[in-house]
Amino acid sequence: MTEFVLSSDVREIAARLQGPARDFAGKTVLLTGGRGFLGRYFMEVFAEMNRTYLDDPVRLVALDNLITAGKEGAQIPEMDNVTFVNHNVIEPFAWDGPVDYIIHAAGIASPYYYRAYPLETLQVAITGTRLMLHLADEKDARLTFFSSSEIYGDPDPKHVPTAESYRGHVSCQGPRACYDESKRVGETLCYIFHNNHGTHTNTIRPFNVFGPGMQETDYRVLPNFASRIKAGLPLNVYGTGDQTRTFCYITDAMVGFLLVVLKGVPGEAYNIGNPKPEISMVDLVRRIEKAASGPVTHNIVEYPDSYPADEPNRRCPDIRKARLQLGYDPAVDLDEGLKRFLDWADGVYTGEQ
Ligand SMILES: NC(=O)c1ccc[n+]([C@@H]2O[C@H](COP(=O)([O-])OP(=O)(O)OC[C@H]3O[C@@H](n4cnc5c(N)ncnc54)[C@H](O)[C@@H]3O)[C@@H](O)[C@H]2O)c1
Repeated sequence: MTEFVLSSDVREIAARLQGPARDFAGKTVLLTGGRGFLGRYFMEVFAEMNRTYLDDPVRLVALDNLITAGKEGAQIPEMDNVTFVNHNVIEPFAWDGPVDYIIHAAGIASPYYYRAYPLETLQVAITGTRLMLHLADEKDARLTFFSSSEIYGDPDPKHVPTAESYRGHVSCQGPRACYDESKRVGETLCYIFHNNHGTHTNTIRPFNVFGPGMQETDYRVLPNFASRIKAGLPLNVYGTGDQTRTFCYITDAMVGFLLVVLKGVPGEAYNIGNPKPEISMVDLVRRIEKAASGPVTHNIVEYPDSYPADEPNRRCPDIRKARLQLGYDPAVDLDEGLKRFLDWADGVYTGEQ
């Protein structure tokens, strides 16, 4: 286990999945984005399942070209039953062995990075998804595509909390379009393969996942705040501070993701997040002040130039579909999640962004 995850979290995820995860026994999972924030959890959780309850181990083939994996991802651990391949998923991947599940989690996920790499962001979600769908077709594997809650754009307040049936309010131009629109095309590709070829596809729309393991230079809100706390700097809240988000702690998110991989109804998309509380950035700062070990101050500032404009005003998932069809039930409340994350970040972050 590395310093980039908490062993107790990995044990919690594996234990919560003990019943359905037995389907992984003896199977091969191809994971793209295997050295990213979520990819590293998948690696650790499969290893924990093998250690604790899978008599016949699950084998993992993890791909990543390390474009945004950072120093955390670049350290490739030696693990039993894991093969890592440095591969750009916009190129075909030749693999002779069987593949039972494909988890396509490669992507350029942080607004800071998709602004820096707009074409790579498009390609990984479009060409990368198409090639993985061909492979799923060829191998008769179940494919799960990591889309995003960003496919909803800036939803009409009537559609917050947002259900999977909402069609979105998204711009095809502007600095966020490369991410939002390519995830939408990725979903369309899954739809086409499912409908025309009978490929078993599922789509996950995660809503702001956080937890230990997020890179200090990720630039999303919680790592940014944690890094500034470490440096003894005030937290910078962009804009008015009234924009809302929900935050899903990594253990709840991973349980939800793996329930989709194992039990998703073919062709269906699922919101995975924690709808409670929908919180403004200013209120988030207040919660952080309570959860952090030392004093925390904040400023309300203009958006920096590096931050893509047009950020959504509100973001909150309706998770009734995942609850009903998969038994998904987030269990870690925001204060507890913040405490686990901030304690971890205090030990690992340097305060130098
Ligand atoms: N973490 C979240 O809250 C969240 C929210 C919504 C959607 N998602 C989606 O979930 C997936 C995983 O998110 P994450 O937080 O782990 O992101 P991450 O940026 O930490 O990891 C993504 C990984 O994909 C790799 N990658 C990018 N392009 C690649 C390519 N062409 N070939 C091979 N590897 C490539 C990167 O090097 C990185 O290691 C992404 O597709 C992201 O868009 C995540």
